[in-house]
Amino acid sequence: MASTAPAFVHTLPAPFAPVPLADADSLPPHPVPELITQGAEALVYRTHFLTTSTLCALKYRPKKSYRHPTLDARLTKGRILAEARVLVRCRKEGLAVPAVMGADWEAGWLATEWIDGQTIRAYLDDYLHGIDDANVVAEQQEELMELMARVGESVGKMHEIGIVHGDLTTSNLMLRPKNKSGRESSAYTNRDLEGDVVIIDFGLAVQSIQDEDKAVDLYVLERAFGSTHPQAENLFPEVLRAYGESHKGAKVVLKRLEDVRLRGRKKSMLG
Ligand SMILES: Nc1ncnc2c1ncn2[C@@H]1O[C@H](COP(=O)(O)OP(=O)(O)O)[C@@H](O)[C@H]1O
Ligand SMILES: [Mg+2]
Repeated sequence: MASTAPAFVHTLPAPFAPVPLADADSLPPHPVPELITQGAEALVYRTHFLTTSTLCALKYRPKKSYRHPTLDARLTKGRILAEARVLVRCRKEGLAVPAVMGADWEAGWLATEWIDGQTIRAYLDDYLHGIDDANVVAEQQEELMELMARVGESVGKMHEIGIVHGDLTTSNLMLRPKNKSGRESSAYTNRDLEGDVVIIDFGLAVQSIQDEDKAVDLYVLERAFGSTHPQAENLFPEVLRAYGESHKGAKVVLKRLEDVRLRGRKKSMLG
């Protein structure tokens, strides 16, 4: 075991595992994968694929020892293939999602194009930090509304092609800025909100043409806005407005959303 590398790296399968120490001298330097998030099902790393200049997001689903090995292998394969298929489908239809680079369902990984940007959640958090500064609010309000409109358009386009995301949150929506200054800077006033909205994390996505499923997708996003960004409640109506304009049939989904909300409220009253 290489004593210099962090322990978690060793859980990664080849070709993402660090080079064994014996070969280290004869091979080019191998950057260590950087752990981005650790969810219940998957670990996401920022690393590279095939060449050191090709960045990728590596979603690794380690074996679950609490599940029967045959079942575990089947679930892992199903999820990786389902996510890859939906990503390929979305790209073919012109929706901005990460490109699939490679997958190995036996080893448990899916490698996709690295999106050089931040989650919408991070942008909103920053915006809300700056919200007591009246100048910042006035300057950025318009840009932010435009960003919300682009979110609505993207989600609309996804629904139009018959994909329901299943876990629409502001962490699963990213902004790829037009000019690349965004990532390093943390000062809100340096934010550039121009760029493409990129939808990620299709692990729970399904193909559906049902208005109900699409309305639930929107409801989940609305709840995500409300719970993680309560001060930003004026923003979500703009997402819905743009969604309504995005495709034929969107207005029907918005109508359906009203029913879903009512049911949600009744359910929460019943406890
Ligand atoms: N292609 C990507 N480019 C850049 N960052 C990504 C990419 N995929 C995932 N991430 C980052 O990793 C986080 C978790 O990835 P995600 O696919 O949403 O997995 P999970 O199922 O654990 O939520 C995202 O919220 C985002 O910050
Ligand atoms: Mg996610």
